[in-house]
Amino acid sequence: MCGIVGITGDKQVAPILIEGLKRLEYRGYDSAGIAVINQGLKVVKQEGKIKALEAEAAHHDLSGTCGIAHTRWATHGAPNRINAHPHQDDDGSLALVHNGIIENYTVLKTQLLKQGHTFKSETDTEVLAHLISHHYHGNLEEAVQKALSLAEGTYGIAVMHADEPGKIVGARKGSPLVVGVGQGTNYLASDVAAILGETRQVIYLDDGELAVLTPHDVRVLGIRNELLTKEIQEITWDLDRIQKGGYPHFMLKEIHEQPETIVDAFRGRILPETGDVKLSGLRLTDWELRNVRRIIILACGTSFHAGLLGEYLIEEYAGIPVEVEYASEFRYRSPVIEPGTLCLTISQSGETIDTLEAMREAKRRGAKVLGITNVVGSTIARETDGGIYIHAGPEIGVASTKAFTSQVTILVLLTIMLGRRHSISSERGMRLLQELQRVPEKIRQILARDEEICEIAAVYKNHSNFLYLGRGYNYPIALEGALKLKEISYIHAEGYPAAEMKHGPIALIDPDMPVVVICTRDGSYQKIKGNVQEVKARSGKVISIVTEDEEEIAAMSDHVIRIPASSEILSPLLAVVPLQLLAYHIAVMRGCNVDQPRNLAKSVTVE
Ligand code: AGP
Repeated sequence: MCGIVGITGDKQVAPILIEGLKRLEYRGYDSAGIAVINQGLKVVKQEGKIKALEAEAAHHDLSGTCGIAHTRWATHGAPNRINAHPHQDDDGSLALVHNGIIENYTVLKTQLLKQGHTFKSETDTEVLAHLISHHYHGNLEEAVQKALSLAEGTYGIAVMHADEPGKIVGARKGSPLVVGVGQGTNYLASDVAAILGETRQVIYLDDGELAVLTPHDVRVLGIRNELLTKEIQEITWDLDRIQKGGYPHFMLKEIHEQPETIVDAFRGRILPETGDVKLSGLRLTDWELRNVRRIIILACGTSFHAGLLGEYLIEEYAGIPVEVEYASEFRYRSPVIEPGTLCLTISQSGETIDTLEAMREAKRRGAKVLGITNVVGSTIARETDGGIYIHAGPEIGVASTKAFTSQVTILVLLTIMLGRRHSISSERGMRLLQELQRVPEKIRQILARDEEICEIAAVYKNHSNFLYLGRGYNYPIALEGALKLKEISYIHAEGYPAAEMKHGPIALIDPDMPVVVICTRDGSYQKIKGNVQEVKARSGKVISIVTEDEEEIAAMSDHVIRIPASSEILSPLLAVVPLQLLAYHIAVMRGCNVDQPRNLAKSVTVE
């Protein structure tokens, strides 16, 4: 999730652009840059924090009344100065900043190289800059429209050309972009937070729209180049509320982002015609994929729970033996790595020291190591032989939510890729992919039940112990639900395989220990129903997560949360959402610091 700010008017813009970037820092980023028009284009870019950009900018003349600026959350290309935005064309007369992913950038880049363009960076964004330049004949908005008609993917962009000083062109498709209307100055931003200090009058662009800004005019054009009349809205929120997208906490914002982040995880990676997937970052040949004999998954915390799902998925659909290890345990024992072993490390941050060191140990013992991470250029991403970015955007809340569902989505894609090279047909692959693409809408249906879940949270918020039960694909979700609750509400919660209850935990059952049971209609439905009956027979309280048409378990439960029906392997992506919300609401009601729970860090980079 990159940050964009653009300003054109009658005042010096560099300091205002930098201030705007600072207001976007909360989103997370790895590099930043600024461009100002004044007798040509001046561009300063820097890896690292905005203060590094400020220090570098002090050595340049950035005077000027029209400029754009950017904070980068890397998706293609390592986080460094060369890959930072703004990107320019060959003669440096055009500057562009971008938020999103251009899916067909390699095809476009090949064509542009043949037409004599030269590239400096590894990014998809630089391709867009050259493409617009290639179609530029004196009118920037026309060149942008032409170029975007050839690009596939998502974008929010701001573009300037030295031949048209004072003009900024913005366009959006899939990534937010807002116009700020001022007096003699107009603004463009990826997020209202960036320009709140300058104006509260904003125009939200919709997908397919393009805005042309000059100091005294704003024009918004539609897909057919028609001039649109857009409503100017007054922003009443304060900065803190805006940075959370209107939600009271980053965690709730990120829970609600999941329909979009799951799409971002599979965007551009599905091959519907063959029921297959493409995961270019894996850097594994088909031969290597067909000859994987064993997979070891290494992770911690929530990522470990995603790894457990990976075990169930890959063993069922690819027939490859998988073991999931706590990275902290793996690295200190003497693991046996045979030829044909593939080691998969899962880490949102890509910096977790236990996972990193376990990955290094596996590598030392001869395994090929892959990473499933969220942070481009993170240590794990750089040290593995290949990997897959989950594209979840910055996850600010310490409790991992959207990263988890994106990790699971990637594991479903990886399972299909392995399965199509081992045992599953293209038809089965197609069905799985079609079902996966229906998950975001089903999650929206669950999110719409947030109020119901909040009411249930109010009933149980004062309990001191919880038990979470699940079977099969929902056993890892029981673990994840328990982790969510304990880490943000400080209530003791344990996740257990439901059948294990009779081997000990059943001694704990009483009215003071609520039992959350995930009872989606799948292969173990009858068994899990028996577990619910065992709890009720001992006066336990049951909160059941059931498929929307289920009656029997619902009738015996104290509270019920319904989720849409889905295939067994995708039900975890749905069942986890009510558990995230339940934990969130209980923690809020207990007055806990939901985004920064006590004693926890977002990334555990020390032993
Ligand atoms: C999850 O909500 C926790 N914040 C924690 O368990 C986390 O999943 C774990 O520390 C692993 O982090 P990583 O995915 O960045 O490696």
